Amino acid sequence: MHPDITEILYTEDEIANAISSIGRQITADYADKRLLLVSILKGSFIFAADLIRHIELDLAVDFIAVASYGAETKSSGVVRIIKDLEGPLESYDILLVEDIVDSGLTLNYLRKYLRSLNPKSVEIAALLVKEVKQETPVECKYVGFVCPDAFVVGYGLDYAERYRYLPYIGVLDPKVYS
Ligand code: PRP
Repeated sequence: MHPDITEILYTEDEIANAISSIGRQITADYADKRLLLVSILKGSFIFAADLIRHIELDLAVDFIAVASYGAETKSSGVVRIIKDLEGPLESYDILLVEDIVDSGLTLNYLRKYLRSLNPKSVEIAALLVKEVKQETPVECKYVGFVCPDAFVVGYGLDYAERYRYLPYIGVLDPKVYS
């Protein structure tokens, strides 16, 4: 285990099992649809890469990147898009793929934005949903784990761009960020 991690919350195997189960559900739910899987950068890139290999459908993939908001914009719920999707979306059922839902602001904003572009549908697959009270609750169709309100890193999740490469998800030692 990495010395900066105090506890492993989800092992590599547990994550793989959760993703395989979500992949099976998506395969069944989108069998007769045209699925566009949208990975929200950067945190979800590993989850998205593993998830698409557990979906047995002829899906398309795209990426969207948003700027981290500061304390002020967080309260207003404004998220700035720094890399947008390509092409028209009208023929697609979109599945937004996110590593973690915390306040819910990012996903609430992105879902609203994508709906304004008139795809057939917009749903969310989140690997982790934090056990916190969200101002505007986010409805996630697929959830891997409900996670304690701790500073978690690994499997795509970072602290100051570190730890994304860890194969498990763990709690970061407060000594690192305090
Ligand atoms: C994290 C995470 C979500 C967002 C969740 O991204 O990947 O996108 O925060 O928080 P919220 O529910 O409070 O909006 P971050 O800004 O750390 O960027 P990253 O994905 O590039 O690491």
